[in-house]
Amino acid sequence: MRIDIITVLPQLLQGPFNHSIINRTVKAGLVEITIHDLREYGLGKHRQVDDYAYGGEAGMVLMIEPIFNIINKLKSEREYDAIIYTTPDAETWNQKTANHFSTLKNIIILCGHYKGIDQRVRDNLITHEFSIGDYVLTGGELAAAVLVDSIVRLLPGAISDEQSALSDSFQDDLLAPPVYTRPAEFNNWQVPEVLLSGNTAKIDKWKEEKAIERTKQIRPDLL
Ligand code: 6GU
Repeated sequence: MRIDIITVLPQLLQGPFNHSIINRTVKAGLVEITIHDLREYGLGKHRQVDDYAYGGEAGMVLMIEPIFNIINKLKSEREYDAIIYTTPDAETWNQKTANHFSTLKNIIILCGHYKGIDQRVRDNLITHEFSIGDYVLTGGELAAAVLVDSIVRLLPGAISDEQSALSDSFQDDLLAPPVYTRPAEFNNWQVPEVLLSGNTAKIDKWKEEKAIERTKQIRPDLL
């Protein structure tokens, strides 16, 4: 898989991908993540990428031309399955969308910007738009990092324990059950007896009950 990210703040995206599972997955050649600085496609000697909004609204809006130019350049190099724009005024990203996008070959993510981008980019160049939740971030970069992380960890081979991506919270619309490790007792706090029993059928039943109990308590909307 190849993911191209277009942003005016490339520095903001270096950190999240240089560690842990994402970094390992990149090094293993399972995904290529390329970050593009939109300013390199900016206009004139000031490399302008934004301008005042028509209609007198406060705040700068990303212009069409630099975005058009970089997207066209990328499209001339390979075919893209999706061109995503991260913005709070969009459908919410979730596990199902992550599952779907993890099956694609080449995607572009255009990071949203403070006051937005020219609507004609959204109308004509973007194929999908996503928010990561009902709150406002300063830009779409952190949201793009969330999308990429949730996609990349699903790629076959990204997580050593094949089971573990499938047993995530949300994969079955349930929150994950609690987990424990050694010691079995600490400070008089006990690990639930059933987990020490070695009876896998009983343990599986307990995990499912706990998952349902947690979901009922914290996220009844999922049931
Ligand atoms: Cl994708 N962008 C911004 N700026 N804020 C958000 C968001 C995206 N998703 C939730 N809040």
